[in-house]
Amino acid sequence: MKGLMMLPAPVRSSRAMMLASFCIALILLHTFWRPSWGGSFNNPPPPPPDNLPDHLVTAPGPGPGPIKGPSNPSHNTTHDQDELILPPTPEHPPVPPKPVSRIPKKIWYKKGKRERTLEMLDWEAGCLHRNPGYTSQVMDDEQSDEFVRNTYADHKELLDIYLGLTVPILKADIFRYLVLYHEGGIWFDLDVSCGTVPIDDWVPKEYKENTGLVVGWEFDSPYGANAMRQINSWTILAEPKSPHLWQVVEDIIQRAHEIMEQNNVTASGIRMDMVDDVVLFTGPIRFTGSLWRSMEHNYNHKVDVLKYANLTQPALIEDTVLLPGFSLAASMNRYPEGTVVGPSLVIHHYAGSWKNAEGGESV
Ligand SMILES: *[C@@H]1O[C@H](CO)[C@@H](O)[C@H](O)[C@H]1NC(C)=O
Ligand SMILES: *[C@@H]1O[C@H](CO)[C@@H](O)[C@H](O)[C@H]1NC(C)=O
Ligand SMILES: *[C@@H]1O[C@H](CO)[C@@H](O)[C@H](O)[C@H]1NC(C)=O
Repeated sequence: MKGLMMLPAPVRSSRAMMLASFCIALILLHTFWRPSWGGSFNNPPPPPPDNLPDHLVTAPGPGPGPIKGPSNPSHNTTHDQDELILPPTPEHPPVPPKPVSRIPKKIWYKKGKRERTLEMLDWEAGCLHRNPGYTSQVMDDEQSDEFVRNTYADHKELLDIYLGLTVPILKADIFRYLVLYHEGGIWFDLDVSCGTVPIDDWVPKEYKENTGLVVGWEFDSPYGANAMRQINSWTILAEPKSPHLWQVVEDIIQRAHEIMEQNNVTASGIRMDMVDDVVLFTGPIRFTGSLWRSMEHNYNHKVDVLKYANLTQPALIEDTVLLPGFSLAASMNRYPEGTVVGPSLVIHHYAGSWKNAEGGESV
């Protein structure tokens, strides 16, 4: 004080004002600036909804926070914040909820006795990297048997056949329908890699809520109008309990019984040479035929397959999205010159480890 009083008046008052302003600034800062992360600059910023602009933050205390869209238990993704539905305010009219996919964000793989190659590990990692929020699970022989034994304990016929079969490719084919039927998600063969389009964007927004199954042409255009068009089975997306997948399983069981009778064997006696063709019995031709049959049962009309020939846009057929040939099988399809083809969603590398007399890995 003494020093201050000795200063000339103008200087004294300007010092006093600076001091006062500084104090007021400090008080203001202390009152209004409340860092929600507790004042430590080392902690990461808080997750939403703490980050919402002030006018959207709900009053403190209990009471509902921002309302979330229909929740999907397997949806622990960074994308969840896109689906926040904020309370409407005059400046922000209600936003319609984003369409929610019925397909779980989980990728299924099945491996045999052999270890996967480094390339295959890369393909899986690439798919997960490009699809944040997705998880994957790789089932080996024992795990898939265990899964089927537990999940389908009430279906004795199916268990006898599935657990009895010894031909790896037949089991791998059937397993995909069984795991997708019960759990839903995405089936990838081990030799599938992902393109750059996120899986969330494969189905057009306006179809999402109605889509329970997503498949793609394996052979669409190359063999002319009357050729049989085939859907691939290396990439299938399904909601849990898709009736179409159950139809595939039932049709396989029925055919397996015929083969067993014709050859006087039980399921464990079925060999590759008794099976006319793997693609017919359990593979893509089976899948395609059973899907159309199931549609016919469930929706009381035949699907006019030719309507979807030379397909260049995803088509919604009842509850199923059919993707063009170039989406999942670019190398298998040709289009008339000038056709605009979309991106490859996956690349199938045709490792074909089952293409031998034993129908799979021979160790
Ligand atoms: C999602 O998070 C919940 C808890 O927050 C957890 O129990 C559940 O297993 C998670 N699901 C997935 C698919 O990660
Ligand atoms: C079928 O196989 C069983 C034993 O595996 C045999 O006893 C039976 O005679 C066979 N039937 C025919 C018609 O070959
Ligand atoms: C599809 O395109 C091919 C030419 O690439 C043509 O021959 C065929 O008739 C077309 N099919 C249909 C059903 O339009």
